Amino acid sequence: MTHNPIIVALDVESAAEARALVARLGTQVNFYKVGMELYAAAGMEFVRELTGEGKDVFLDLKLYDIPETVKRAVAQVARTGVRFLTIHAVGSAMRAAVEGRGNSDLKLLAVTVLTSFGPEDMEDLNFQGSISELVERRARKAMEVGMDGIVASPLEVSAVRRMAGPKAILVIPGIRSAGADRGDQKRVATPADAMAAGADYLVIGRQITRAADPAREAGRVLAEICVAG
Ligand code: C5P
Repeated sequence: MTHNPIIVALDVESAAEARALVARLGTQVNFYKVGMELYAAAGMEFVRELTGEGKDVFLDLKLYDIPETVKRAVAQVARTGVRFLTIHAVGSAMRAAVEGRGNSDLKLLAVTVLTSFGPEDMEDLNFQGSISELVERRARKAMEVGMDGIVASPLEVSAVRRMAGPKAILVIPGIRSAGADRGDQKRVATPADAMAAGADYLVIGRQITRAADPAREAGRVLAEICVAG
């Protein structure tokens, strides 16, 4: 393992709670995901606080709007030192994001099909094929238009790796060690299995954030990956 692949999801209500978690994790984790909840509560000010402390930030905003708006929002994020940003894998939004990112170091990740999608959502989209066909089509499109990587469910990692090629950054949520509480996650993989299937980064929330000792839990996950790798 050449890098620490753990990204801890800061799914909490306030900057104070997030700060406390980051402090408890110490040097064990350096990459944090800020999603819509914390973003709505603490905004870019907290994101800047994290980047200012040398932490890597994955800003999971799943942007999707008219191209000009996406381009301008991405350009703003690119100035903050955030490392990863998510965009829905729709051609016009992704192209605008690539333009907005310009020459910055910001990496753009495509969200192909939300894992919560069911048959009714597919009907609304009027897409005739299966969910996995839509994932495939969008993953290919993402790489064609210059996105850097893809957020994929653990069960799709190897298929998405085949479609997206070796350079794509694959970021995988839905990770649980054997024996850990699954919460509301149905389609999970262990850290070692996800890495073996081709993941570059693992997004882990509750297994670490709700552990009695989060730093120790993160250490256990790292050890699991190293032993298997
Ligand atoms: O607590 P847990 O490890 O389940 O958290 C996983 C994180 O990854 C959450 O922030 C969740 O929103 C996100 N995520 C997910 N499944 C997806 C996409 C994102 O669990 N398909």
